[in-house]
Amino acid sequence: MTLLFKYYTFAYVTVLFFLDMDAAVKLLICSDYDPLSPLTSIDGEINAQFFDHPNVVKIYAIDKKTEQGLALVVMEDGGQTLQNIIDDPQEKLDKKTCIRFAEQISSGLEYIHSNGILHLDIKPANVLVNSKKICKISDFGCSVTVKALETVSQIKPRGTVAYCAPEIFRGLKPTDRSDVYSFGILLWQLKARKWPYQGVSKERIIYMVVAQSERPHNFTSFEEEDTYFYLYKECIEASPLSRPTASKVNIVFKSIDL
Ligand SMILES: Nc1ncnc2c1ncn2[C@@H]1O[C@H](COP(=O)(O)OP(=O)(O)O)[C@@H](O)[C@H]1O
Ligand SMILES: [Mg+2]
Repeated sequence: MTLLFKYYTFAYVTVLFFLDMDAAVKLLICSDYDPLSPLTSIDGEINAQFFDHPNVVKIYAIDKKTEQGLALVVMEDGGQTLQNIIDDPQEKLDKKTCIRFAEQISSGLEYIHSNGILHLDIKPANVLVNSKKICKISDFGCSVTVKALETVSQIKPRGTVAYCAPEIFRGLKPTDRSDVYSFGILLWQLKARKWPYQGVSKERIIYMVVAQSERPHNFTSFEEEDTYFYLYKECIEASPLSRPTASKVNIVFKSIDL
């Protein structure tokens, strides 16, 4: 048996993979684990433990040693990330593929929301695409339950700055529409195949998004009359309630004739 072994180190997370068994194993080291606060990355991963949807990565088991701030998450091997696909010039991302991916991701997001969870880190690097070109939302480390959110007055901004909705920078509690905003930036990135706000500092992005209502532009590959473009514009509205729900986005993508 060959053992394919990948090793990643991030701020608080180390990930180990044994991919030959069609399973990925992620070791979470959570230095800020607090049993009294249900909002850490370990709690986030646990939120997705029993999810069962074709567009959400399947978690087989979670073994946690919470006193030590450790958790081991065993999941299906979801394949490569959507970010890898966007970055790979050999990968075809034509109109049909973008719509199919958007339909799948919005379907996964609708499912997550219908289970009372906010993902809070939707971006191409957290969407896996398997060999059958099926997208699966992964990495629930930032996720929270709507119930847990009700028990606190505020949460620290989480997620990735370029995908983060303006209300989160304003210190408001996130909602399902905050995920829809991030999904909107993902829609842009699928078409543009660039980084949103490339080369701009995090502080400047926050200022641009909150104070100047700036959003990624350079829509050369968008057709302005296109439903895809229209949905992108709706998802990145400044006011959360002006954004559609994931369910509505999914219905519209499903209705597009391919
Ligand atoms: N289920 C999986 N199958 C295959 N690769 C995965 C899986 N989960 C994560 N990965 C890979 O590991 C990387 C980091 O995992 P992720 O869960 O996003 O952790 P982090 O919190 O460090 O972002 C991903 O970008 C992806 O390349
Ligand atoms: Mg991630």
